[in-house]
Formats: sequence, structure tokens, C-alpha cells
Amino acid sequence: MKVLVTGGAGYIGSHTVVLLIDAGYEVVVFDNFSNASKESIRRVEAIVGKEIVVVEGDIRSREDLAKVFSSYKIDAVIHFAGLKAVGESVEQPLRYYDNNVNGSVVLCEVMSEYNCKSIIFSSSATVYGDPHTTPILENFPLSATNPYGRSKLMVEEILRDVYVSDNEWKIVLLRYFNPVGAHKSGSIGEDPNGLPNNLMPFIAQTAVGKREYLSVFGNNYDTVDGTGVRDYIHVVDLAQGHLNALDRIRNFNEPMTINLGTGNGYSVLEMVEAFEKASAKKVPYTIAERRVGDIATCFADPSYAKEVLDWEATRGIDEMCEDTWRWQSQNPNGYII
Ligand code: NAD
Ligand code: UFG
Repeated sequence: MKVLVTGGAGYIGSHTVVLLIDAGYEVVVFDNFSNASKESIRRVEAIVGKEIVVVEGDIRSREDLAKVFSSYKIDAVIHFAGLKAVGESVEQPLRYYDNNVNGSVVLCEVMSEYNCKSIIFSSSATVYGDPHTTPILENFPLSATNPYGRSKLMVEEILRDVYVSDNEWKIVLLRYFNPVGAHKSGSIGEDPNGLPNNLMPFIAQTAVGKREYLSVFGNNYDTVDGTGVRDYIHVVDLAQGHLNALDRIRNFNEPMTINLGTGNGYSVLEMVEAFEKASAKKVPYTIAERRVGDIATCFADPSYAKEVLDWEATRGIDEMCEDTWRWQSQNPNGYII
């Protein structure tokens, strides 16, 4: 089976490519390298011991995509390509809608032209907005508080409409909670551009000495210690969820919407403590104002993924921190070598 992985050079994509190749899938990576380094591909090649087919192109370009679909008989697409910074999406909404929404529309059009109608889409827990209760089930109300989140909601709806128009489509919408961690080798991992937006890379860069201290965004939430609670999920567990989805996609007779989370929530301070233990480094922090748009608590009910994908996360918080630390300490400046 030949799988096109859009955004396959990125953080989650590169880890998924490793598992796909190890499981015997033929993979074509498609990426415009707007938020990835070619070094990540070389590292993946070293891990799997094989050369990877990579096509540099943009999902908004019919020509770029047509080149791929005419050169390779693609059976299914795992669609990671997209922009993902919430703050940036507020400042540049049109860029986000163009890249994430328009790009997905063009991708589906070209897929349809070449009769490739199986897609796994990277959605996000952000589509639940500020949930009334936790754990979060797939049928909870949806809302978006920023253009990034709205772009995910829009693509989910577009894909459902595509299915209504043509029942041959096989669609899986995976709603990720908070991906962290890295491959065991420590040679691939998350390499944010500039100042990290997300907690885990910020903690890791503080532990390695690149940042002076972590700003904890608020300590007066209604949580165990007042700091925000999230469902951190190891990126390799997340990647495995895609393989399980791919394996079963032919059997799904309607679009499937599935949470990928662990079901456990950890506070910011619990994450700091776990990281200090894993790295044997201090992570100095200061309490700062709440970040606009943040919610107190977000964690998944992952039971539907267990039921329909036979998938559950197996890696705990210690392993997430140890693997992040291995990547960060071996690559203090990310892929820039
Ligand atoms: P990433 O930025 O590391 O990977 C995305 C990849 O897509 C990058 O390699 C980038 O160069 C590529 N890309 C972007 N726009 C493109 C375009 N127009 N054409 C071709 N390639 C393009 O991000 P990630 O963390 O690996 O996230 C992958 C997907 O998962 C994204 O869609 C993201 O929105 C979604 N997601 C991520 C998280 C998270 O916290 N990391 C959470 C929920 C959902
Ligand atoms: N936090 C800090 N300091 C930081 C960064 C984060 O205290 O420097 C806190 C946040 O306030 C929050 C927690 O750490 O309580 C996690 O924050 P992240 O930014 O790592 O993650 P979010 O849950 O806010 O958002 C992430 C992605 C979104 C995605 C969402 C749900 O960034 O794109 O998960 O999947 F939509």
C-alpha cells in the first residue's frame, strides 16, 4: 500500500513515517518545508535504513500534487500539512485559511481526480473550545476561538460534505490532544522556530539552558495546583494511532471522528516536576499572567479510539519527558547542525 504523507517532514509526520516504513508501507513524503528541515528526512532515513521518496511541493498547488499522483499510484493520504501556531493565526488569518483550508480543498480535488479517496486528517482538541466537562467525548459541542481552530473545524466539515457527495470516500478525522516526546533514538523531535509556543519545548529549552526560565501562564485556574491541565500524548503513540486508522480505513462506512489522547491530565507544574526528574536539570519558572484564550482543563476520553481503532496510548509522562530530553540534549539547536 502506497501512502502519501503531506507534512511528512514535520514533527508528527516524521515520527509517523518511521512507523509506516517499519510496518512495510510504501511512503511518499510531500512537504514544502515551510516549517521543517530536510535534515529531519535524513534522520528518518538513518533510523529506518532506507531512502525515502520526498517530493517538495505545496498542497495549494494543483501542479505540485498532480505530479505526485501521476508519478505514484497513491492508495491513501495522511494529511498533516498545515500551519499550527494559534497566535500567528490571529495575526494572519487569511494565510491560515489559505494554507490549511484552501490547501485541503485542493488536495481533495486532486485526490478525487486520481481516484484516491482515503484520507486521514490531523484535527485537534482545539475544536472543543472550552468544554463544560472533562473527559472530552467526540460528541461534545464544537467551537473555535481562533482562526487556527476554525481552520480545523472547517476542514472537518468540508470532509464530511465530501463524503455526503460521494460515499466512496473513506475519511478519518483524528483529534489530537497535546503531542510531546520524541523518537527513542533522540535523533528526531520537535524543532520549533524561534520562541516555542507550547509548554514541552519551552521546558526542554529551559532545561538545556537556551531559555532562562519558563513563564507559567496563570496559577489561579480551578485545577489541582492552579495551573492549566492538559492531556499530553507521546508522539510515537500518536503516530501509531494513524497506522491503526490506516489499517482499518477500508472498513469504515462513514467518516470517523476520533480523539487521540491518553485520558490523563497533568498540570504545568506537574510537567515541570516530571521533566526535572527525567533530565536531572532544574527548570526555573515564574508565575505570569494567564495567556489569552487558554482554558483550565482539557483531556480526552480515549475509549472510542480503543473501540474502533484498537488503539490506546502506552507511554506515560516519565517516558514523554525522558524522550524529549534525549532529543533536546542531543540537539540543543534542533536540526541546525
Ligand atoms: P509541523 O509544523 O511540524 O508539521 C507540519 C508540516 O507541514 C511541516 O513540515 C510543514 O513544512 C508542512 N507544511 C505546512 N504547510 C504546507 C503546505 N502548504 N504544503 C506542504 N507542506 C506544508 O506540525 P506538527 O506538529 O507535526 O503538526 C502536524 C499536523 O497536526 C498539523 O496539521 C497540525 O495542525 C496538527 N496538530 C498538531 C498539534 C500539535 O500540538 N503539534 C496538535 C493538534 C493538531
Ligand atoms: N503554558 C505555560 N507556559 C508556556 C507555554 C504553555 O504555562 O510557555 C501552559 C498553557 O497555559 C497550558 C499548558 O501549558 O496550560 C499547555 O500549553 P500548550 O501551548 O503547550 O498547549 P495548548 O493546550 O494551549 O495548545 C495545544 C496546541 C494547539 C492545539 C491544542 C489542542 O498548541 O494548537 O493543544 O490540541 F489546538
